[in-house]
Amino acid sequence: MKKSTILFFMLLTLSFSQIVAQEEPSKEYADNYKKVMERTQWWREARFGMFIHFGAYAVPARGEWVKSNERLTTETYQKYVDEFNPKDFDAKAWAKTAKVAGMKYAVLTAKHHDGFCMFDSKLTDYKLSKNFGGRDLVREFLDAFRAEGLKVGLYYSLIDWHHPDYPNVGNHPQRDYKEYGKRTFNWDNYLKYMHGQVEELVKNYGKIDIMWFDYSFDDYSGEKWGATELVSMIRKYQPDIILDNRLSAYEGTSSRQRMLKPIGDFESPEQIIPDAPLIDKYNNTLPWETCITLNGSWGYTEQDHNWKSPELIVQTLVNCVSKNGNLLLNVGPDARGKIPQESVDILSEVGKWMGLNSESVYGCGAANLPKPDWGRYTQKGNKIYAHWMNPNMGQLNTKGIESDQVKNMYLLKSGGELLYQKARWLNSEPGNLFITVGSSPQKPFEYDTVIGIEMKK
Ligand code: GLC
Repeated sequence: MKKSTILFFMLLTLSFSQIVAQEEPSKEYADNYKKVMERTQWWREARFGMFIHFGAYAVPARGEWVKSNERLTTETYQKYVDEFNPKDFDAKAWAKTAKVAGMKYAVLTAKHHDGFCMFDSKLTDYKLSKNFGGRDLVREFLDAFRAEGLKVGLYYSLIDWHHPDYPNVGNHPQRDYKEYGKRTFNWDNYLKYMHGQVEELVKNYGKIDIMWFDYSFDDYSGEKWGATELVSMIRKYQPDIILDNRLSAYEGTSSRQRMLKPIGDFESPEQIIPDAPLIDKYNNTLPWETCITLNGSWGYTEQDHNWKSPELIVQTLVNCVSKNGNLLLNVGPDARGKIPQESVDILSEVGKWMGLNSESVYGCGAANLPKPDWGRYTQKGNKIYAHWMNPNMGQLNTKGIESDQVKNMYLLKSGGELLYQKARWLNSEPGNLFITVGSSPQKPFEYDTVIGIEMKK
């Protein structure tokens, strides 16, 4: 046999074995994946949401972990609970701030790890409504955000540092107190309470679009929380609700080759952005949302002045969208109930950019092009958006776009035409286009100059 024939058969066998090795998802997995993609469609199009961490911890103003970090007992923490009276709270003002920024949904902490409830739960007296003239802050939040046309979500902490039947495990404030650990904890009792509260939230407050559970660790994961039963109860009341993935513990560190969990609709990286779109081991794209703080803290922190710039926020949002992800950007209102002015100012700047460029964010996702030196791409159908963020020498090189496929090219904020050409002298291979953008190496418009590239269909 000729050498070339042998090589041909070797290659054939190799590619055949690769095809065989490519595992197929089970029917159950494929059905679940389809449902997840249907449920999350509006959310994947929305791309930008507001996270709100608000609770009695705004009074000490050292973040929502203060009780754990400073090993406070429920008795010592009580003075903050008693002092907590957010008299300037105005849900409509919060909703306006989110709307102005171009956010499409918001998630509020109904109960954080400290166990203090921001909603008028019938299952406990440990709640704001007692100090707040009977007002139900969660209900006011839901009404105001819905009135602005935003979708609404609630964060609910699985962990509870206040409930007497929640043991001093994990980062519980009394984790080092041996005596505390000798008490009897009736786990079933806690589960009953926790499931009961979640039922109150999904049953009594109209349509809830997102439920954001936080969080699992060690053995406190999945069925320890009674997850299957909890989720089927939730879906009974809210068939279309979207759930984050923290009802069971994070598995694996790779940003790819994950598996969609039977419970939970999206991945929830925290304070990090994946290097590439998240995909499962069958190459299906996975819905994801990163949550990021505007300064360095979730709950209001008096001495944290480490604010991110509007430019960084815009570029971070685009970074997420360019990898098929969402950004849930946090604000931490102060003890009086106001979103810090610094946050309001940053968000209104972001909103100015969104006002001119949001077409390149909503409904957009990854473009099948290599990442350019000067920024990133997003894409929706036959429209590619080139986001010019970094200083650039000469014309902007768009590798992978054929000039005869381009219908037109324009500046998104004005619609003004932009000229382009195939490369001159060198680099003249096909699919290597250069956009004429003037002589300055700096992008002409804050914080990201967006160029629309409409491709022929
Ligand atoms: C963490 C923290 C919590 C914060 C959350 C936001 O799990 O415990 O304080 O609410 O992340 O993602």
